[in-house]
Formats: sequence, C-alpha cells, structure tokens
Amino acid sequence: MMTRLLSSPVWAAPMAGGPSSVELAATITAEGATAFLAGGMRPVGQLIEDYRAASAGAGSALAAAGSTQEPGVIGVNLFVPEPANTAIPTERKAPDSEARRARAEALSAYRETLLEEAHAAEVELPEVSDLNPDDTDDWDEKLDAAVAESWPLITFTFGLPAPQVFDRLRAAGTLTGVTVTTPAEAQAAVRHGADLLTVQGPNAGGHRSLHDPQADPGQTPLLDLLAEIRFVVGPDIPLIAAGGIMNSGQVAEALKLGAAAVQCGTAFLRTPEAGTTPTHRLALEQAAARMNLTRTSLTRAYSGRWARGIENRFQRDHKDAPAAYPEINQLTAPLRAAAQRRDDVESTSLWAGVGVAKAEAKPAAEVLRDLTETLIFGNK
Ligand SMILES: Cc1cc2nc3c(=O)[nH]c(=O)nc-3n(C[C@H](O)[C@H](O)[C@H](O)COP(=O)(O)O)c2cc1C
Repeated sequence: MMTRLLSSPVWAAPMAGGPSSVELAATITAEGATAFLAGGMRPVGQLIEDYRAASAGAGSALAAAGSTQEPGVIGVNLFVPEPANTAIPTERKAPDSEARRARAEALSAYRETLLEEAHAAEVELPEVSDLNPDDTDDWDEKLDAAVAESWPLITFTFGLPAPQVFDRLRAAGTLTGVTVTTPAEAQAAVRHGADLLTVQGPNAGGHRSLHDPQADPGQTPLLDLLAEIRFVVGPDIPLIAAGGIMNSGQVAEALKLGAAAVQCGTAFLRTPEAGTTPTHRLALEQAAARMNLTRTSLTRAYSGRWARGIENRFQRDHKDAPAAYPEINQLTAPLRAAAQRRDDVESTSLWAGVGVAKAEAKPAAEVLRDLTETLIFGNK
C-alpha cells in the first residue's frame, strides 16, 4: 500500500469545511493520484458515505474511460481533539484546572469584542458556558469507522494521538500519518508509530498543525524544515511536503530535497470539483485578479488556532484572539455563516496559502497535470 501511495508524487491535500469534496477525491484518484477526504468537523455517518461515494465515483470514471488502471488512494484526515491530544499536558486539560479557568476568562473578553458586529449582523453568539473545549468531533466513532471500513490511510492534524491509536490502525491494515511543523513534533510522531509525516511549512493555507496549540507557529521555510526533519527522523520515514507549492518546479525541488511526495491545497481550491463555498471562491477570484484582498496572514480570530487565510477586515480587527480551539470556532460560527449568506468577504474565514494568486479556476485533472508536468518530462 505504501508503494501505491508513493507512486503518486502530488497529493490533493485534506481541506475541511467543504473544499475536499467527494467529487474532488473521485477525480484525483481516477487520475491515479492520492487524494483526501477531510474528516474534521464532518459527522462520522457523512464521512463514511463520502468515502464510499468517492471510491465508487473514481471506479465509475475509470470504467467510463475504458481504463483498467487502479485508482489512487483515498486518505481520510482527522483533527485530533484536545482530550485525545497527548501533546497537551494533562493538567492543562483538566476541567477544573487554573488553565481552563483562565481560558474561559479570555474567551469572555474575546466574546465582548465580537458583540457589536454580532448585533450588526443580527446573529446571537453562544454564551461562553455553552462552548465546549472537550468536543471530540466523533473521534472514537471515526477511528472505529476506519477499522470497520478498511480505510487505507488516516492522517492526523492538530496534535498527536496516543501510541495505542497507531497500534490499533496498524493491526487493521491502515497506514497512518501525522502533520508536523517542527522536528520535535516529527520525532514524537515517529515514536508513537506514524508510518509517514506530512511536513507543513509556514506558507501553507489553512490551519497550522501545531501539536501544542499554545506554541508559536514556526517560520522555518518548508525546504529547510524538510531537511531538519529528515535529519532527526532518519532516512526511512516518507515525508510529504506541504505549504505554498503551486507549480511543478516547486514540486520537483521538494522531491529533490528528499520529500516522497507533496501535498497541495490552495492549488485545488478554485477547481470546479472542489466544494469551496461561493464567498471563498469570490475572494480567491479577486485575489487571483489582484483586485481586492491579495495578502495572506496567520490568524486565530476565527477558530482559536493559528491558520493562514486571505487577510480581511475581521482578521485585522481581531488580532487579540486567545488560543482556544474549538471554542472560538463554535463562537464565531454564526458570524461566519451570516457573512457567507451576504457574500461578505471581509467577515468570514478565507483559508488559503501564500500562493493564493496563482490558484487557477480550471478542472482538477488539469491542475494535477500542471503540477506534475516537469516530473513527466524530466526537465528538472
Ligand atoms: C481551505 C483549507 C482547508 C484545510 N483543511 C485542512 C484539514 O482539514 N486538515 C489538514 O490536515 N489540513 C488542512 N489544510 C491544510 C492542507 O492540508 C495543506 O497542508 C495546505 O493546503 C498546504 O498548503 P497550500 O495551501 O499552500 O498548498 C487546509 C488548507 C486549506 C487551504
């Protein structure tokens, strides 16, 4: 299975919140490449249906083309919820801890800063007492589904599960990966039993996979980070490079420096197959035309975890958001939904990497071919 996975040098990255649609996964895997379904914030029943539909979709596309080629692998990506994240010290997670009390106070203060715009948008914000730091996002059920449905690849982001989770998946024949942003996270992931690592550089769109959400996001450039991580984990573990990769020259460079494959997100956001929302698409289109918002930056304003998105008014106005995921995600949900209803690109999350202006509105198979063309023709 690992050989089949790595026969595809460009993977379509997991993108929660819509973009990693069934159609995108079916299209990419029908091309023989690896693609992901994003299991974060997706109820387990829907994720199971998505997986079956994407597999069937890839099979039908190949059959319709009269191809006998094997489809690529569909991976499933899961957010590691705080209760299952071994990188957060137990005393910080205890419900009656000083850390949890301080976090609730910081959340109250942050909520105050949002009240005026909630009023203007005519939405109600949840009370701080209704926000749940221990929301597991169907964690146990999703791991059960991986085993029951024989999913071939699970990758984890936002933290590091216990070694028993890796043991269980290995026994079921599932390969495991962890997204890491530092050499220390990489070492710990390998120690716990990860089969591969996604090395996420600072230019990546969406959430940084910091294992400790209170840590500062590292700024080591992707190619340097790859070399540092290769040094600490040794030659055998496959590294998948992610962050800011928008053309085949960059793909070739990462492969030359020891990546087994690369994972691209932003490059696929504007493809018709992606489930990117209309407001997100509008902002991406404007960024590509250099019409409106074009810069990306890191923010905790929408979710309480560092993430890179197109910098808009809300990001600029709320630089003071505390490290409190998933509570801030729950808190801002009504504001983001209201902004999407109005197509207001200034008031909702617009996750994208630094290569945002280069994302093209064309079919996913063409984007995939563009990303691999130098490799095929061997120019680099
Ligand atoms: C809209 C969006 C949503 C994302 N959601 C997830 C996710 O659910 N899980 C995950 O591991 N990474 C997620 N990421 C990060 C991507 O998997 C990948 O690391 C990143 O897109 C690579 O950088 P690039 O966007 O510059 O290609 C997301 C990225 C974007 C742009």
